[in-house]
Amino acid sequence: MKNIVERIKNLKQEKKAIILAHSYQNIEIDEVADYVGDSLYLSQKAQETDAEIIVFAGVYFMAQTAKTISPDKKVLLPNINAGCLMADMIDLHQMEDFKKQYPNLPTVCYINSTAEVKSKCDICCTSSNALKIVQSLNAPKVLFVPDANLGKWVESKLEGVEVITYDGHCPIHNNITVDDILKARKEHPDTKILIHPECKPEVSALGDYVGSTSGIINYVKNSSDNKFVIVTEKGVVDRLRRDYPHKEFVLIQDNMLCESMKLTTLEEILYSLEHETNEITLDETTRKLSAKCIERMLKVSV
Ligand code: 13P
Ligand code: SF4
Repeated sequence: MKNIVERIKNLKQEKKAIILAHSYQNIEIDEVADYVGDSLYLSQKAQETDAEIIVFAGVYFMAQTAKTISPDKKVLLPNINAGCLMADMIDLHQMEDFKKQYPNLPTVCYINSTAEVKSKCDICCTSSNALKIVQSLNAPKVLFVPDANLGKWVESKLEGVEVITYDGHCPIHNNITVDDILKARKEHPDTKILIHPECKPEVSALGDYVGSTSGIINYVKNSSDNKFVIVTEKGVVDRLRRDYPHKEFVLIQDNMLCESMKLTTLEEILYSLEHETNEITLDETTRKLSAKCIERMLKVSV
């Protein structure tokens, strides 16, 4: 293991490469990562970097986003099968049909979507800035794809805004029920429950805090509490237990695992960086249109 870590670090220097890792990745990947965080943070890093190669330890849409906003860089996805079940729920044709049903409405697209879908939207958002992005449109009605849960949670937080959502979701977060939260409240009284907004809106409504993976991690960092119930993928809890060994973290369900996020290994990162395999490429028209959508979000989010 040490050997692999060293070899990756040496190659990074040699090739002027950086590694971006999402907080759901296998935790050992943090040993070689330059930046670890949520989707928004990682896209900001992809935009800012002057590295020549970006290795994305995450899922396909994240690497595609990095390539979209940093077209001159080589972007590698170490395991090319690392997809996102939610992003796969809408393709270009479904997107076009959805827009036809509701013509002339501003369209917000969650970053968990393909470049083709983004190319048909006005502005992108992530789980950490969705509220701010929808608000920034100043419109009474907006279309939101693909995450119905996030879209409806945003609607519940904004007065006078109707959010018309596409019927997509993250199966891992969507699985959590109101009963799961009520049970956790009973079993862990006086414990803050921190929830990712990809959960159903009625589940999010019961949280003490609702936010992105980084939002949840920062909440713990800034709190003097010693115990938390965490309602998102297990990778967040693994990192919290590592960083706060004296605090207790209860993962809402043992099966909160995103299999795609766990596909990437150190061995694959090494191979991909050494041989520069699994490079992300994009058709230039699609890239330019989806870049507009992402860059507009990044401007609102600074
Ligand atoms: P974050 O915005 O918290 O990174 O969420 C991305 C994601 O895929 C959660 O399932
Ligand atoms: Fe996609 Fe859900 Fe995995 Fe996030 S946790 S990458 S939304 S499948």
